[in-house]
Amino acid sequence: MRLDKFIGSTTDLSRKAIHACIKAGQVMLNGQRATSAAQSVTPEDRVQLNGELLALTGPRYFMLHKPAGYLSATTDSQHPTALDLIQEPRKHLLQIAGRLDLDTTGLLLLTDDGQWNHRITSPRHECIKIYRLTTAEPLRDEYIETFAKGVLLHGEKKPTLPARLELLGEKEARLHIQEGKYHQVKRMLAAVGNRVTSLHREAIGRIQLDPQLKPGEYRALTREEIHHV
Ligand code: URA
Repeated sequence: MRLDKFIGSTTDLSRKAIHACIKAGQVMLNGQRATSAAQSVTPEDRVQLNGELLALTGPRYFMLHKPAGYLSATTDSQHPTALDLIQEPRKHLLQIAGRLDLDTTGLLLLTDDGQWNHRITSPRHECIKIYRLTTAEPLRDEYIETFAKGVLLHGEKKPTLPARLELLGEKEARLHIQEGKYHQVKRMLAAVGNRVTSLHREAIGRIQLDPQLKPGEYRALTREEIHHV
């Protein structure tokens, strides 16, 4: 890994600040003053910034109970973002694994492990997402079969993959989907002439939203959760 990338992964410094530190002689590589941002660093090398030893930590995984009104993005000028709720060093390295709409609440996963993120979000892996929803109009029994067979969403060429709908009340249901198309749940209900009035994600794969987490709170995933997606 390049020296500047290594420092970026172990501190909150911007690229510009990192280059300035290297230029100013504040970075030591194996006891020698670093000469270039492009120098290569291996896990065995000792990198010090102003005398402090920098170390790469392992990948990180968090679950957040996303409240309504927060964007599933890392930065935005208009709305607060999910990342605003996370207090961790180097949080700029975290990515969101499976976005939620601004008004959707519930389980949001964040990680700096790109491969793990891909496993959750890639349609090839068919990771099940479970949503609880309420609707404007009564839910009809025939939706169960329609969603099980797949429904054609507005603007799509192929129907959705089979989904399981559990009716919980006149206007309340749980939906299990395998994909993560843009606004998928809302568009599925729109395709059968209904409208989602509230949406909450309960689970992704075998990771369930921790009932102890209040909206806006987060925690690290357990080892078991990390391996069970
Ligand atoms: N489907 C939607 O329509 N919105 C979400 O936020 C998630 C799934």
